[in-house]
Amino acid sequence: MSVAKKDYKRITTKSLIEMKSNGEKISMLTAYDYTMAKIVDTAGVDVILVGDSASNVMAGHETTLPITLDQMIYHASSVVRAVERALVVVDLPFGSYQSDPKEALRSSIRIMKESGGHAVKLEGGKEIKESIKKILHAGIPVMGHLGLTPQSIYKFGTYSVRAKEEEEAEKLIEDAQMLEKVGCFAVVLEKIPAELAKKVADSISIPVIGIGAGGGVDGQVLVIHDMLGMNNEFSPRFLRRYLNLYEEMTKAIGQYAADVKSQDFPNEKEQY
Ligand code: KIV
Repeated sequence: MSVAKKDYKRITTKSLIEMKSNGEKISMLTAYDYTMAKIVDTAGVDVILVGDSASNVMAGHETTLPITLDQMIYHASSVVRAVERALVVVDLPFGSYQSDPKEALRSSIRIMKESGGHAVKLEGGKEIKESIKKILHAGIPVMGHLGLTPQSIYKFGTYSVRAKEEEEAEKLIEDAQMLEKVGCFAVVLEKIPAELAKKVADSISIPVIGIGAGGGVDGQVLVIHDMLGMNNEFSPRFLRRYLNLYEEMTKAIGQYAADVKSQDFPNEKEQY
């Protein structure tokens, strides 16, 4: 079904809620640096997530756990400098909010002051309710994240689909309703059955953004390196690759190296 798109000059948390009530789907992608963020923003993506997936795709770590608050602020401030339209949401990294609500607030304030980001995202449900309330009371918009929460990978032991069993599905619905009730402006649902994700999206008025959660939610998010095909080792079912940049870039860079060796580059027009 196609829906008339309103022309938003600047996306705010309110615009996203309005999009949901108008039936307009929300587009969200990650970015971690100035150049990529400029392209994503110019292309018209509504929300840029400075995800802690930077730990994987930018730093080469196996999990999202090692990235620090300082490193997230560095990535986020580079993104913010590039953006004119999109809402910039910044992940609170592992270890920066789990201890207590005061720590969660301090970390969020650092992100907002030092990066210029517009909102924070954190993983979890009722266990972190008090932290979410504390951040919201300070006037900082919060996006929730339920389902597969990669910061808990050592508790889950696997990156497989979450909430397939009734008990976990029920907790997820309760958590999503709690996130709406305390005042979050949106929630990410990662890698859960499409039917459950739709049920959640239909049961709350704030936007639900899915990754591996099917088409019945209010918007979609992907990691930019994955959708551009920069990483050919990661092929989950939910991923649509729009380019094969790994191959294209390897070819181009190989050609450059060969041109340097053969002295084809630079030619006479490429020098002063
Ligand atoms: O860090 C990230 O990229 C994320 C998305 C997968 C939602 O949290």
